[in-house]
Amino acid sequence: MRIIGIETSCDETGIAVYDDQQGLLSHVLYSQVKLHADYGGVVPELASRDHVRKIIPLIKQALTKANSTIDDIDGVAFTKGPGLIGALLVGACVGRSLAYAWGKPAVGVHHMEGHLLAPMLEDDAPEFPFVALLVSGGHSMLVQVDGIGQYVVLGESVDDAAGEAFDKTAKLMGLEYPGGPRLAKLAAQGLEVGYKFPRPMTDRPGLDFSFSGLKTFAANTIASEPDDQQTRANIARAFEEAVVDTLAIKCKRALKQTGYKRLVIAGGVSANTRLRESLAKMMQDMGGKVYYPRGEFCTDNGAMIAYAGMQRLKAGQIEDLAVKGVPRWPL
Ligand code: KG4
Ligand code: ZN
Repeated sequence: MRIIGIETSCDETGIAVYDDQQGLLSHVLYSQVKLHADYGGVVPELASRDHVRKIIPLIKQALTKANSTIDDIDGVAFTKGPGLIGALLVGACVGRSLAYAWGKPAVGVHHMEGHLLAPMLEDDAPEFPFVALLVSGGHSMLVQVDGIGQYVVLGESVDDAAGEAFDKTAKLMGLEYPGGPRLAKLAAQGLEVGYKFPRPMTDRPGLDFSFSGLKTFAANTIASEPDDQQTRANIARAFEEAVVDTLAIKCKRALKQTGYKRLVIAGGVSANTRLRESLAKMMQDMGGKVYYPRGEFCTDNGAMIAYAGMQRLKAGQIEDLAVKGVPRWPL
């Protein structure tokens, strides 16, 4: 069976073709990052319009790269939510309509299920069950994963998502959007100078996160310190360490609670090198293993939607004829 996956939940148009026997046949991505950089964040209306411009050429490109014609395709998967409603509706409209025109089933995929299953596209894919840490620009959550569709959300952010905290703190430092990777780069030049950033919500039981206090702590530190590059780098380092430590503490807690030995990290922030190093060491110490998607599949992409869509298609979970986008949708 072969499926085409369409991702348009935010500011990346991602299309991929996945075959359940041969694996990933093609994936193409157009990022709107440059378009939104001047505004310091994603402008929803501009995002929708750019998806409209790019989606059809990218679908053609993905099919050509996969050496596939419409006849080879058994289903059309698209991100149904959560995300920006205008952006979602572009993917849902095109996906649902193509499926109708081609006479194939349409599959509406949960964006976070896509992220969660992204490591399944790697040679060294994790077996079920595992604990997943999903950290993106819009979400931070810990999920107990017992199989496809068997998800228990163990904890979530009560305010900002981890990526959002990175982006907002980066903005305070004058770094361009999206600031997460830029802040991480700056942090690599930072020195340990004794800033005492908090590790929010680690001093009480539970698996929820809170990151807005770290951003405020960073703002106060920036305001009270000299305005030079090395000081910024030192603050970036301390901020990044606090986020990574907090995530690691909660992951350890989730693994203890479930008794699982496999940890998956996915979503944009899983590209963070310090987070990967810290979790790899922690898992080694705990006698377990950490899994993550390759760099390009940490952030939004069509491949994860095609993969998740294939699992849902095989389970017979297909869409009716209505075009649906769900901006808020629990996992
Ligand atoms: O999963 P994603 O592409 O989009 C959402 O679904 O939100 O995640 C994007 C987020 C942004 O907040 C970005 O700053 C963050 O992931 N990010 C990083 C790094 N690379 C991307 N944060 C910290 N360190 C990185 N290396
Ligand atoms: Zn995402």
